[in-house]
Amino acid sequence: MPVVRFGVSLEKELLEELDAYVADNQLANRSQGIRHLLNNNIVKKKWKCNNVVAGSLTLVYNPHKRGIVHKLTSIQHEYHEVILSSQHFHLDHDNCLEIVAVKGKAVVLTELADKLQSLKGLQHGMLTMSKAN
Ligand code: NI
Repeated sequence: MPVVRFGVSLEKELLEELDAYVADNQLANRSQGIRHLLNNNIVKKKWKCNNVVAGSLTLVYNPHKRGIVHKLTSIQHEYHEVILSSQHFHLDHDNCLEIVAVKGKAVVLTELADKLQSLKGLQHGMLTMSKAN
């Protein structure tokens, strides 16, 4: 795709935030930082559609947090039609990693991810999606 250059005016503080974002995400420069932010905020919204996509949900949580295991399980049962499989890893005493393979309408997968991500006690929740057809 051709690259277009354009000027951006930002408040100094916002620019510092951008530089911190670039550093935190180990990006090469501000252009990459802006691209990254746009991708996360605009392009991802396009996934909220009826296209069938495949992807994975990565969840990290503390299994000792009250109710979390039960809630994770019941939400996944609610969405059994889009869940292909899941794998659970006991990382250490207080951390579990669960990887859930999913396939279905992007809007449904996003809804499932939103429900899981908003669970109290979840340390990390991330959905990645790829075109499936
Ligand atoms: Ni575990």
